[in-house]
Amino acid sequence: MALHPLHGLVEQLETQPIIFIGGKGGVGKTTTAASLASYYASQQQKTLIVSTDPAHSLGDVLNVRLNNEKTVISPYLDAIELNPDVIVDEHFAQVERTIKAYANPDMMPKIREHLRLSKSAPGAQEAAMLESMCHHLVEAADAGYEHIIFDTAPTGHTLRLLVLPEMMGAWTDGLLAQQRRQAKLRSVATHLDSHNKKDSQKNDVANPFAAKKSDRWEQAVSVLEKRKQLFRQAGLLLHDRTQTAIVLVMTADVLPLAETKRAIEQLEDSKLMPAAIVINQLISTNQSDEFWRRRAERQQHLLQDIEQSFTKYPLYPIYLQQTDVRGTDALSALLSV
Ligand SMILES: Nc1ncnc2c1ncn2[C@@H]1O[C@H](COP(=O)(O)OP(=O)(O)O)[C@@H](O)[C@H]1O
Ligand SMILES: [Mg+2]
Repeated sequence: MALHPLHGLVEQLETQPIIFIGGKGGVGKTTTAASLASYYASQQQKTLIVSTDPAHSLGDVLNVRLNNEKTVISPYLDAIELNPDVIVDEHFAQVERTIKAYANPDMMPKIREHLRLSKSAPGAQEAAMLESMCHHLVEAADAGYEHIIFDTAPTGHTLRLLVLPEMMGAWTDGLLAQQRRQAKLRSVATHLDSHNKKDSQKNDVANPFAAKKSDRWEQAVSVLEKRKQLFRQAGLLLHDRTQTAIVLVMTADVLPLAETKRAIEQLEDSKLMPAAIVINQLISTNQSDEFWRRRAERQQHLLQDIEQSFTKYPLYPIYLQQTDVRGTDALSALLSV
């Protein structure tokens, strides 16, 4: 059989600063992510685990209530559960501050209404989550973490998040270019205006906010430039295989297999190769009970298909446990086989 022993996964990812755990809902992403994090923390490697799944099961698995700020789980393990609602509110408050800096105050009620509606627009949560994720990603190394592990939402969502940095970069570029053109037009207009008036001092009196406005303008541009820089940096990290490892989790079932195939195609299209595939909830074959024996046989049958489908990637098995795996000790023990 082409399955690798599970401790190989821990060793393979030992030197990876950034680990993404992806896959269909319910296959065991949170369990795998929390197990890796607990294991590395038990080896005194400073680890941050970040959940981007709105389902919020990371806190349940770690037996700790989590939020948007870091919570210390153990001396070497911190955890964050990004709450999309809070992140979106913060994100749009920031956008409003940026716009306010250069928009005509009369326009603000309209702009506020637009932003309020935008919060529930498709993709708004993702964009906000992405920016927050990118911050954690870029800051993790500076914060002294040896690993930052992302326990992600089900596949499609995660893939979009992984590909978004490039799109957002292009989008910000477009916005900046447009605003630069407008700034240029404005400066030409001001210039013409001052030509029309003989006394330039008079012009200053007529336009007392001119200097201040351009200052604020600079600030707004610098916010956009910073965001662009953030996405670029995150995009570079994601595509650097010495930095980022993407681990896909699946079970030996028909639908997770189909979804994993699709996910890998999309990842490969974006030049993001998975580092490994975890086959979770496997049942050992030596079952005396008829029901469990049949299920185990069915999994073995699917495993052949899985091995043929993913020849390029190492496959690691995690066996089905008697109960849910909870708490850092049990989680790290899951990988110590
Ligand atoms: N190897 C396993 N053995 C026993 N239970 C498992 C195993 N992997 C996952 N589970 C259980 O299956 C459920 C879904 O797992 P979870 O890690 O939350 O999946 P996901 O994050 O992909 O939605 C949870 O109740 C979890 O405790
Ligand atoms: Mg989960």
